[in-house]
Amino acid sequence: MNKIHSIELLNKAVGDELQSIHQYLYFHFHFEDRGYEMFSKLFEQISIVEMKHLELLADRILFLGGDVELRPTKGVEKINEPKLMLELAKKMESESVSNYNEWAKIIGEELDVVTKRLFEELAEQEETHYNEFDIETDNCNDFGDIYLALQSMKRCNKEFAE
Ligand SMILES: [Fe+2]
Ligand SMILES: [Fe+2]
Repeated sequence: MNKIHSIELLNKAVGDELQSIHQYLYFHFHFEDRGYEMFSKLFEQISIVEMKHLELLADRILFLGGDVELRPTKGVEKINEPKLMLELAKKMESESVSNYNEWAKIIGEELDVVTKRLFEELAEQEETHYNEFDIETDNCNDFGDIYLALQSMKRCNKEFAE
């Protein structure tokens, strides 16, 4: 097992997860500000899942004797158009899936099966995130602006009911 290489790839994954957490929280804040409750919740929930991924990666890094480099791979992109926000989220998830698949293969060949399995589990979960964002992209395309308007109306109904 090449612990140094495992730690290096795990820290790359930490950077990607941090980038996702920041980007999705940014989207969550903006959707919430505009009253798009469903999208706001979706990004909040997925950012929390990414935090759990980060924790799993950090646990493994520390177990291997490394330290956690909390540096996001990239800064937040300040995009505010719902379809472009979903497009960016899909791109980030699909890059994560392909990175985790590649890193699982490399690390498996270096006989660190626990880290390999972690990358495989994360790849599987990032695929489900991709799928969520893809469904919402299709809904925006199929229903147009009414889809966003309904999210705002749902929020208003809830507030008036309380
Ligand atoms: Fe993740
Ligand atoms: Fe994800």
